[in-house]
Amino acid sequence: MTAISSTPQWKTLEADAAGLARASMRELFEGGADRFARYSIDAAGLFLDYSKNKLTDEVVEHLLALAVTADVEGRRKAMFAGEAINTTENRAVLHVALRAGATGAYSIAGEDVSVAVRAELNKMKGFCARVHQGAFKGYSGRALDTVVNIGIGGSDLGPQMATTALQPFWIGGRRTFFVSNVDGQHLADALDACDPERTLFIIASKTFTTQETMTNATSARAWFLKNGGGESDIAKHFIALSTNAEAVAGFGIDRDNMFQFWDWVGGRYSLWSAIGLSIALQVGFESFEKLLAGARRMDEHFKTAPLAENMPVMLALTGVWNRNFIGAAAHAILPYDQHLARLPAYLQQADMESNGKRIGADGSVVAHATGPVLFGEPGTNGQHAFYQLLHQGTDIVSADFIAPAISQHELGDHHQILLSNFLAQTEALMRGKTEAEVRDELRGEGKTDAEIDALSPHKVFPGDRPTNSILMERLDPETLGSLIALYEHKVFVEGVIWGINSFDQWGVELGKVLARKILPEIAAAGEAKPQAKAHDASTNGLIDRINAMRGKGG
Ligand code: F6P
Repeated sequence: MTAISSTPQWKTLEADAAGLARASMRELFEGGADRFARYSIDAAGLFLDYSKNKLTDEVVEHLLALAVTADVEGRRKAMFAGEAINTTENRAVLHVALRAGATGAYSIAGEDVSVAVRAELNKMKGFCARVHQGAFKGYSGRALDTVVNIGIGGSDLGPQMATTALQPFWIGGRRTFFVSNVDGQHLADALDACDPERTLFIIASKTFTTQETMTNATSARAWFLKNGGGESDIAKHFIALSTNAEAVAGFGIDRDNMFQFWDWVGGRYSLWSAIGLSIALQVGFESFEKLLAGARRMDEHFKTAPLAENMPVMLALTGVWNRNFIGAAAHAILPYDQHLARLPAYLQQADMESNGKRIGADGSVVAHATGPVLFGEPGTNGQHAFYQLLHQGTDIVSADFIAPAISQHELGDHHQILLSNFLAQTEALMRGKTEAEVRDELRGEGKTDAEIDALSPHKVFPGDRPTNSILMERLDPETLGSLIALYEHKVFVEGVIWGINSFDQWGVELGKVLARKILPEIAAAGEAKPQAKAHDASTNGLIDRINAMRGKGG
């Protein structure tokens, strides 16, 4: 297989980037009044403006040619057809089937999976109704108004992000805690706020073997038994979301209390499955269905729109352009909506666990950069923290700015202030501020020539920092669904172009194995342990230091 970076299409883009090195985005804007119209897309309730990237018509044409060379359309077809595109695990990747709606039909190897998907959604719907109506009662006969979702990675970040995002749609009087970290403080803090009589524990784990989740689940069960519940009450307070029925039964959770999904649903793509039960319990099943419907709209668009008008494709192509040709090794996710506070963390997993890979699908080391480092915070908080580096740092960082035009809580002029910042930042990042402008400004302030010479270099903004702006009318279940699906497909397209398998995650294994080996070497509080010898000098030394500290803590 020819490496993508050896293709003529890639070389052309390298030449484009070199040719544009001396041009500025300011000039590109001045040279094309219709730039905004040309480089924007309206789809599935979202609006994407990608004009503030250092693109020209030629570059866009060449990026599209690269997408064709990488066979984005063919791979997209293969994904929707249920082919085993996750080759290292020999699995289909069919999260789109989870949100296909009443008539959607998806199959894997000739077997229609939609029937099972709909059956599970119906089971979730029925369960939500019973909980919401108080028919599913706790051991003392009280209704369950509190949920503790115990899971990690995709079994935590998706449900947590979506539940946080949809706070205006919460059912009054209901609460959900998300416990993920094996740090016992995380669980303890949640349990401190819970009443065992009214709490439903959702053990969410695709594999039902994840150390953090199983440790938290075991401790939650012990807490429940210690605080009033009996063994025979477990079924009223513990349910499982998993693909592993055997392990769920082994943990003591009744088959009836298990909601299933399938190995063709990747953990980081699973919030649409039973893993979304915590979302549905907090916002209501109707809102959960709207979330699925929003994603479905984006799926339809992604499946059918020509590449040049396809939002996930064009977003991905800006990603490839910035990463491989402009040199941006980091990408910021900047939601101008407080309820999207967990979106950066969610997208870190979606993007970095998918595309943080150096081996191509054919088993060879790739010759180009792949997924960037993702990070972010809600605006305007980030502005007062790390935007300094975005504007004037030595590295180019690309960014997605995301905002609803109307807030779910229009409070005074807060939202206008927020939006003015949203717009000002992308304008500033694109335009920058030249030395001549800085000197003029300082002169206007009455500074001396010496002061101007000293200060002006510090006040110059190079500009040319690439950004995308994603707008929606309001952040609601539909637009959230659409937004998440947009990013899922964006990550997929980038992975196809980079020639990697975006759906495995072997890079998480080594640390897990070593942690299991080290676990017995860590002293219990007050215990003495022999000197560690099995590792490198640093790890041995740290184990000894920790054990010495813990030895005193008995
Ligand atoms: O270790 C990484 C990972 O496998 C993620 O891909 C996954 O989302 C997370 O762990 C949790 O896995 P599970 O749902 O099987 O507990």
